Amino acid sequence: MTFKEQFNLYKCYIDNRIEVITNNLDTHSDLKNSLSYSLKAGGKRIRPIMFIATLEALGINYEKYVDLAVAIECIHTYSLIHDDLPALDNDDYRRGKPSNHKAFGEGMAILAGDALLNLAIELALNCIDSRGALNAVKLLFNYSGVYGMLNGQAHDLAYENTVIENSEQALLKLDELKTGKLLTAPLVMASLIAEEKYLNELTQLGQLTGTLFQLTDDLLDVVGSFENMGKTLGKDAATGKLTAVSVFGIKKTKLLIDETYTSIVKMLKIFDNNSFFNGFYECIKNRNS
Ligand code: IPE
Ligand code: IPE
Ligand code: MG
Ligand code: MG
Ligand code: MG
Repeated sequence: MTFKEQFNLYKCYIDNRIEVITNNLDTHSDLKNSLSYSLKAGGKRIRPIMFIATLEALGINYEKYVDLAVAIECIHTYSLIHDDLPALDNDDYRRGKPSNHKAFGEGMAILAGDALLNLAIELALNCIDSRGALNAVKLLFNYSGVYGMLNGQAHDLAYENTVIENSEQALLKLDELKTGKLLTAPLVMASLIAEEKYLNELTQLGQLTGTLFQLTDDLLDVVGSFENMGKTLGKDAATGKLTAVSVFGIKKTKLLIDETYTSIVKMLKIFDNNSFFNGFYECIKNRNS
């Protein structure tokens, strides 16, 4: 099976479960429509796919943990709904469609984000069948909460239009938290479920994934297209964000992308030349969406 076929297989698996979960929601139609809209707007699903692909590579049957995979995507989607709000990045488009608050109003967007976080807790609790799984769930909420992604979002907001002394250091920390934590979580969670197999290596790989992903996100904000990215570009510079491009410029950002990718490829030997992971990281490095 090619990487693309495998990726699409995993994606269908996640999407089908999301379809069932959203269809079964017995809640006010505005809230149901608002959260379903964002959850099914065409996200790439890279976080839940990383989780189930890693479980599979570690010899674990991922079907038992599909709700935990969906929980990761719910948290990611809520973070994007709130990230787009006028009080944060004020973005009108997401995943090629009007952002949630543009489609449903700010109030319902806030509630949809809250609801997705709450749903994530419920889904994650369904999957606790061992001490390893319990630790994986704990890690997910640690890495997405005040110690992780949310902390990163607070840094991002505080840095806006600010002169920062050690901007390289600050950027590193910012990216590690706001993007890196939720991209490290799937790999580390899989390891915890698999009795901590390759725990250190997968933690390191997750951090590098976060770096690679945010470097490309910052670059694409400058050189990408709306058609591919599905969000308004050029916003980072316009709103005075601390980004790789603002700190390093385009040329060095591209160099850092190549360097990070090279470090990742070296780490992939733990997967024994598993073609899925090779294809996955090549895709992230060269992504335009
Ligand atoms: C966007 O994440 C937010 C960042 C961390 C840069 P993705 O690019 O994974 O977004 P979707 O889920 O595919 O829309
Ligand atoms: C978002 O970073 C990271 C989150 C935790 C949501 P960005 O603000 O750069 O993501 P985009 O560019 O809006 O997708
Ligand atoms: Mg942001
Ligand atoms: Mg944003
Ligand atoms: Mg961005």
